[in-house]
Amino acid sequence: MPPFGLGTFRLKGQVVQDSVREALELGYRAIDTAQGYDNEGEIGQTIADSGVDRSELYITTKIKPDNYSADKLVPSLRESLDKLGVDAVDLALIHWPAPRGPVSAGEYLGALADAHAQGLTRQIGVSNFTVALLKQARELLGDLPITTNQVEIHPYLQNRKLAEFARQEGIHLTSYMTLAVGKVMEDEVLQDIARAHDVTPAQVALAWAMGQGYSVIPSSTRREHLESNMKALDLRLSDEDMGRIAALDGQGERLANPASVAPDWD
Ligand SMILES: NC(=O)c1ccc[n+]([C@@H]2O[C@H](COP(=O)([O-])OP(=O)(O)OC[C@H]3O[C@@H](n4cnc5c(N)ncnc54)[C@H](OP(=O)(O)O)[C@@H]3O)[C@@H](O)[C@H]2O)c1
Repeated sequence: MPPFGLGTFRLKGQVVQDSVREALELGYRAIDTAQGYDNEGEIGQTIADSGVDRSELYITTKIKPDNYSADKLVPSLRESLDKLGVDAVDLALIHWPAPRGPVSAGEYLGALADAHAQGLTRQIGVSNFTVALLKQARELLGDLPITTNQVEIHPYLQNRKLAEFARQEGIHLTSYMTLAVGKVMEDEVLQDIARAHDVTPAQVALAWAMGQGYSVIPSSTRREHLESNMKALDLRLSDEDMGRIAALDGQGERLANPASVAPDWD
């Protein structure tokens, strides 16, 4: 999957339309949304108005826990496709593992595999899965590959146990909230590294994540941020820079942790 894309969590109405329109103008081609973000319709409209060819885009959506049962998942994804104005998404993810929820992993992953078999999504994946849940998901899915596990990873929460397992097993990770929702901008270490490279702390955090092989999907409502964030693709950090950022692990809290659907984290 593409290493760099646009996040759209929290963005609704005109705000999400402006963000996606400007991002597409600037050359973004991967967009991350979710049924739970309540913005698929606005994103679909903006894509249609942009004139960018569908074949150039990589669109990810996520199934929300309310739609996990075998009778709901496929119809809910069809509804997402209608809103997004596409025949299929590139990637559909299980948004949260919901291990204490009413629907088993076997049922929702089976339904996601059905959606894939019906051509509603080109690839499938998961989000917020731990090592134990990833192992279980792989057993349940058999030969069908998990394209990514989208998880919170930023300099203050580096998720090392999961990252090590993913590396050993060849499972790709997508880092969400790579900017710790803006907190990285205030960080003295990241500011110092940024000064040395004549870039922004946001670019440093994004290059740090991509340098470890993770995809990133930062969101922004400002054109200048959208533009500069994308330039992180061109930034190479030194081993010393990477080491300084590695030392920031554990200095922050987990930012996304909804009790009803979150797992027992690694
Ligand atoms: N799978 C999941 O459960 C899950 C959970 C959370 C998020 N996600 C996905 O990951 C995406 C990224 O996470 P996020 O949007 O929560 O947080 P984020 O990308 O870490 O941070 C976004 C925040 O950073 C600010 N920002 C962006 N670029 C900046 C820059 N260059 N300089 C200064 N500030 C900057 C933005 O403000 P401005 O608008 O002012 O630029 C916004 O407030 C989401 O949009 C969503 O698609 C997935």
